[in-house]
Amino acid sequence: MYYPLAKSLLFQLAPERAHDAIISLFKTTGCTPLSYLYRRNIVHDPINVMGISFPNPVGLAAGLDKNGECLDAFAAMGFGFLEVGTVTPKPQEGNEKPRLFRLLDAEGIINRMGFNNKGIDYLIEQIKKSNFKGVLGINIGKNFTTPVEQGKDDYLICLEKAYPYASYIAVNISSPNTPGLRTLQYGDALDDLLNSLVQRRQQLAEQHGKYKPLVVKIAPDLSDQEIEQIANSLIKYKIDGVIATNTTIDRTMVEGMRYANEQGGLSGRPLQSTSTQVIKKLHGYLCDQVPIIGVGGIDSAMAAKEKVMAGAKLIQIYSGFIYRGPELIQQINQAI
Ligand SMILES: Cc1cc2nc3c(=O)[nH]c(=O)nc-3n(C[C@H](O)[C@H](O)[C@H](O)COP(=O)(O)O)c2cc1C
Repeated sequence: MYYPLAKSLLFQLAPERAHDAIISLFKTTGCTPLSYLYRRNIVHDPINVMGISFPNPVGLAAGLDKNGECLDAFAAMGFGFLEVGTVTPKPQEGNEKPRLFRLLDAEGIINRMGFNNKGIDYLIEQIKKSNFKGVLGINIGKNFTTPVEQGKDDYLICLEKAYPYASYIAVNISSPNTPGLRTLQYGDALDDLLNSLVQRRQQLAEQHGKYKPLVVKIAPDLSDQEIEQIANSLIKYKIDGVIATNTTIDRTMVEGMRYANEQGGLSGRPLQSTSTQVIKKLHGYLCDQVPIIGVGGIDSAMAAKEKVMAGAKLIQIYSGFIYRGPELIQQINQAI
């Protein structure tokens, strides 16, 4: 109800300022009566995926609440699950500003944030402080200063620390804003990473007496052959789920628009059909052996339905939430 007004105020600010303002509002009001400003009834449409019971299939995508500071606020809006991060072992500033751009006419966003985050220890403190008891994904990555050949160690550190607090762990190897990160999606580098993560998860499952699903997040900028190879590796290492997709480096859909040539990952409506295509192809190779979490340009109930028809069991939103507000969560839930 309040979102059109809030949006017109927020969109007067530079994108990262608007982001910071909304995060500090959510952080300070999530557990207070002021949360009525964005509180919505949660739609109960339970679905069991990866052995987890999700109250509904609409989740918050990674990157909006990187440090897990607003869990209570996002939960109040009716999301069926929240994914926090990407978090790295050590805190880091990310890339130089400006690094976030709105492509208004296309309802797109370009970002080159570069995993700005306060580190895994801070994230865990936030989770402990919150009242959130719902489904929580923790999305993990590597520090900028860690060479990609040693990136595996960063993922293992984060996996170990996040394990007791996460419902599932998402392994982000698809951000375009950390040099070399996407090379972990291919061939031996992927197999080596997945093998190490699965082995460590086995130890952690025994240590904590609980199995937590491992999910891999992939890019939309992949050839059919690359999608097939990734699908084969996911099956081979019995990965529990795959998130498709992250942002794109392709600019075909926004050519000539203001900010279109800014470096980084493009999200929002211009990504919608590309990510749906990737989901469709991935689903063709996986044949329901590995569940897909569909994300990319979902800005309406119809766009969400398309992701489900392409093979997604769950969906996530980020840019659509920025352009449409919390109403989008209920709209989608009522439609799918
Ligand atoms: C500003 C911004 C920051 C993001 N940060 C992350 C991140 O830290 N980790 C990640 O896995 N995805 C990140 N993403 C990608 C989103 O989670 C999502 O995969 C992508 O934006 C496509 O969904 P959308 O079109 O609904 O935004 C980010 C997206 C945006 C717009």
